[in-house]
Amino acid sequence: MVEDGDTVDWDALIREELAPMVPYAPGLRASEVREQCGCEVIHKLSSNENPYGPVPAATEAMNAVLSRLNVYPDGSARALRRRLASHLDVAESNMVVGNGSNELLRLIAQAVLRPGDECVFAWPSFVVYPMVTQLMGATAVKVPLGDGQVHDLEAMLAAITDKTRLVFLCNPNNPTGTIYGRDAFTRFMSSVPDNVLVVVDEAYFEYATSPDYPNALEWFDGVRPLGVLRTFSKIYSLAGLRIGYGVLPEQMVAAVNKIREPFNVNTVAQVGAYFSLADESEVERRRRENQEQKEYLYECFDRLGISWVPSETNFVYILTERPVEVFQTLLSYGVIVRDFGTAPALRVGIGTPEDTKATIAAFEAAVAKLGSL
Ligand SMILES: Cc1ncc(COP(=O)(O)O)c(C=O)c1O
Repeated sequence: MVEDGDTVDWDALIREELAPMVPYAPGLRASEVREQCGCEVIHKLSSNENPYGPVPAATEAMNAVLSRLNVYPDGSARALRRRLASHLDVAESNMVVGNGSNELLRLIAQAVLRPGDECVFAWPSFVVYPMVTQLMGATAVKVPLGDGQVHDLEAMLAAITDKTRLVFLCNPNNPTGTIYGRDAFTRFMSSVPDNVLVVVDEAYFEYATSPDYPNALEWFDGVRPLGVLRTFSKIYSLAGLRIGYGVLPEQMVAAVNKIREPFNVNTVAQVGAYFSLADESEVERRRRENQEQKEYLYECFDRLGISWVPSETNFVYILTERPVEVFQTLLSYGVIVRDFGTAPALRVGIGTPEDTKATIAAFEAAVAKLGSL
């Protein structure tokens, strides 16, 4: 028993791999900012969410299932996996679903990374890649983005060693919104060694409009070690439910099934995702709306002399030497963007036309207050 004055050696108890890790820091919540700035309307543009909410068919189906939550979910998410497989034209045996695509990132890392292995990914990119790598005691090999804040796939190939087990490619990339093109990906896939698993994280797939955007599923054949992850958290507006999916070779599906929780995706999430797929016209409407609002932001940034990076997502990465001051000024107008603490940049989410108007007004006020950003 621990007595007063006794000290527990927590460092010996908790795995040492966890010592350098820091918990994921979510963006500020609207309620926190409302208290701070006193603004009535808060524009939360810090987490790349979709402002329109679930599609009506999904909301209706989720409401209908609430009275049946006394029973466990379908642990194999059979109906949803079958629906997704037909939607994507892949075999059902290649589909996995997760408690957000975040969970799938961790499960994949747990399945393949051993202590001392290397995991290659671009940087800056999604902060969860280093987290799941560190969790496994593996080494994160961060390859700086190249010209135009785009993945440098040649440099990433060069970074692969005989210790590399896993490569994460984030396309479009969070936080820069950039994509690598079809030719670069084709070259990458033809040179990457067969003993390395390539996982393409396409969380923003549905927002991309460039004809040069490579849908990684076109390279998926179920044989080569390639996986593709997507999510219902973004264009489908189900971030609060936590549901994402992956297309993986059957051997990886089997590995993930061994280590996931038995009921990792709850019933409401399975139903919400299933019925979200029925409304492709709404997805198209959201993609167009997002594109239109993005163009307004580009015009505003040009007019105010702010450097921005062309984006294929629902956010825009802007470059500024004074990210903290700009962030705070925008906040005082009720506009929450994402500050990274270290990078000379901010990520500005795209929302409704009202969000865009407020964002533009807040940037105008920031320039008036701070001079050039
Ligand atoms: C690139 C990327 N991958 C994965 C995720 C995780 O999404 P989910 O909500 O499905 O866990 C995010 C969320 O922001 C993301 O930006």
